[in-house]
Amino acid sequence: MFDSLSEVQISTLLDVFYTRVRADPELGPVFGRAIADDEWPAHIANIQDFWSAVMLKSGRYKGNPFQAHKEVEGISPDLFGRWLALFDAACRETLPQELAAEMHGRAARIADSLKAGLFFRPVAPI
Ligand code: HEM
Repeated sequence: MFDSLSEVQISTLLDVFYTRVRADPELGPVFGRAIADDEWPAHIANIQDFWSAVMLKSGRYKGNPFQAHKEVEGISPDLFGRWLALFDAACRETLPQELAAEMHGRAARIADSLKAGLFFRPVAPI
């Protein structure tokens, strides 16, 4: 279904997206606290595996995004809107229209489930 999406396209998208994320006044500091400058190549490689698994069913990603985001200091529900807006813009600029819409749609659904798991769980009755 997504045969026309290539690893090179994912890589180009991620370069554009994370360059802007790091420069963003709201998201930049949150990422900067969690990922040191010299850790970025490993982070991007991990995210490349994630999107390759999601979009191309490569099975390369073995991590746990929910657990990873639980540890991120300063993450908040409001920041997800900003994250998605930057991701959408990067998709539109680097991918053909249909793929851009599909990838942004996937990101939006994953963001919703991450947000629900991180912030909106009902408090367990004591
Ligand atoms: C406000 C929104 C978000 C913020 C601030 C954020 C921030 C971060 C940070 C700081 C890390 C690195 C954690 C670490 O290694 O210590 C990370 C990892 C990651 N993020 Fe996000 N993120 C956000 C939304 C998303 C969304 C919507 C997705 C997917 C669509 C995503 C996918 C990932 C993945 C796959 C990892 C790697 C997890 C692992 O295997 O360790 N993030 N994120």
